[in-house]
Amino acid sequence: MKILLLFIVIVVNVVTGDLPLALSCEAEKCELPECRCSSTSIPGGLAAKETPQFFTITFDDAINVMNLVTYRDILYNRHNTNGCRAGATFYINHEYTNYNAVNELYNEGFEIALHTISHRTPQTYWAEATYDTMVQELVDQRVLMAHFANIPYDEMKGVRMPFLQMTGNSSFQVMADFGIIYDATWPTVTSLSPGLWPYTLHYASTQECVIPPCPTASIPGPWVMPMISWLDQNGIPCPMVDSCFFVPKLDNEDEWYDFILINFERHYLGNRAPFGFYIHEWYLRFNPAVKRALARFMDLINSLNDVFMVNSIEVIEWVKNPMPIDEYRRKPCKVTKKTNCTRLTCGPLRSDHNNLDYWMESCTSCPRTYPWVGNPLGQ
Ligand SMILES: *[C@@H]1O[C@H](CO)[C@@H](O)[C@H](O)[C@H]1NC(C)=O
Ligand SMILES: *[C@@H]1O[C@H](CO)[C@@H](O)[C@H](O)[C@H]1NC(C)=O
Ligand SMILES: [Zn+2]
Repeated sequence: MKILLLFIVIVVNVVTGDLPLALSCEAEKCELPECRCSSTSIPGGLAAKETPQFFTITFDDAINVMNLVTYRDILYNRHNTNGCRAGATFYINHEYTNYNAVNELYNEGFEIALHTISHRTPQTYWAEATYDTMVQELVDQRVLMAHFANIPYDEMKGVRMPFLQMTGNSSFQVMADFGIIYDATWPTVTSLSPGLWPYTLHYASTQECVIPPCPTASIPGPWVMPMISWLDQNGIPCPMVDSCFFVPKLDNEDEWYDFILINFERHYLGNRAPFGFYIHEWYLRFNPAVKRALARFMDLINSLNDVFMVNSIEVIEWVKNPMPIDEYRRKPCKVTKKTNCTRLTCGPLRSDHNNLDYWMESCTSCPRTYPWVGNPLGQ
């Protein structure tokens, strides 16, 4: 029945070429675990003090041996007070990524997520991206990483678009069709306090569109994990920490610690919407005081009974099935099915799109050419 319905919907769409427009959300028709209206209300109707405060740290772009050093330094061997390993999420793009390193991060229990194969400029490429482009950039990237980093295809569940550039309906349609679970691209600069919780696109989103085009079709399936902006020291919103402008002096650890804490408290003392620390690794590498402040902040988080540093996908899992802190604490920890990596160095690999030679570390086999859009296995 479900398959027949899906078939009819697809046929209708092919005939008209249009997706159904999303209608305004009615909470009675949109229920967990499948559906949630865009809203600042706490899932499951929980009170703030019973609600786990999730902390998600995410890093964007290629994984290489240099940034792996930082990740080992600040992320490995952390635990939450429930005894579970602390999480972090990596939105990875392909060019210059070292797949041995990706395999290591995966085996350490961190989340490996999609940030497209090409990450190319100009930004209008993404704003105008069609469904087929997004299949080649996202779904093929999943094939690429599953192969060269030897991690399960289904474990890549999240997407962040390059430059936080939304693609209208396209990326969400692709996610719906290929079972990619959530998007973490969409900033909010207005729903900070109370913060906007993750929601689905069955119905129209009420979130403001900062980097248009945003999806306006009804697209059941994928979740939106809003990037709730920080406020810099002049009160100007910034979705990525490294995009905040009025920040403490970059060599002042104590002031940075306070700056992080003030932003955290907007969530923790508010409606406990997930608190994000979204950054590129270079910012920490070039600013050791910021890195130390962050490590101190994570030490604090890892000692609080109602705060949990998790992979982003774990937030979505909780929102689908919300439960109070004491119940959440009793849940078994997530387990990562470890995979092997035979460390191979491949190269020089000629790249068909720009005629450059690349070297690439792989876990499984070496490709013939450098993998790229349209040829994710480099065959
Ligand atoms: C998304 O789909 C809706 C409904 O079909 C349509 O009105 C809108 O123009 C589409 N958005 C873009 C950017 O194409
Ligand atoms: C991984 O490698 C080890 C040691 O070579 C081997 O015993 C094990 O069977 C391998 N596991 C898988 C899933 O291939
Ligand atoms: Zn990026």
